[in-house]
Amino acid sequence: MSDSHDPEGTRRDFLYYATAGAGAITTGAAVWPLINQMNPSADVKALASIRVDVSGVEPGTQLTVKWLGKPVFIRRRTEDEIQDARSVSLSELPDGTGRNENIPDSDAADENRSLDAAGEWLVMMGVCTHLGCVPLGDGAGEFGGWFCPCHGSHYDSSGRIRKGPAPQNLPVPVASFVDESTIKLG
Ligand code: FES
Repeated sequence: MSDSHDPEGTRRDFLYYATAGAGAITTGAAVWPLINQMNPSADVKALASIRVDVSGVEPGTQLTVKWLGKPVFIRRRTEDEIQDARSVSLSELPDGTGRNENIPDSDAADENRSLDAAGEWLVMMGVCTHLGCVPLGDGAGEFGGWFCPCHGSHYDSSGRIRKGPAPQNLPVPVASFVDESTIKLG
């Protein structure tokens, strides 16, 4: 009789372990997506921060790069553009906030928006703060900066909203010079 019991006992053991194993696999599969979200892939990490070679950007011209799926304007301003932007009084600005991630809680003075102290470089998200169109650049609009033709928003040479339905200045993302000809976004 003991011979007939042993195989049965063995089968039960086998079934027990198989079930336990399946449970462990299910738990692993459920946990994985959470771990995956907390550890972005190398691709995502690379996109979160990019370096842009600006050595070919002459004064009075700009570069548009795509970053995190959105256009970023990198403009090298002329002396006139800088002077225009710095001579505006804050009381003339519909949005008095700097909107610069590098200088939180700053006002909209041009000195708080340009990347360098001299004001030559301006880096901004190229997305209209009204409904998200991409504004036209190179001195467009009534204030010598950018113009959004979708509903007529005019930005000045500091990217600050001056006229039209857009409620905010164009935002300045996290950016810095890593050497004299390379700007890092993010
Ligand atoms: S989206 Fe730019 S003015 Fe409406």
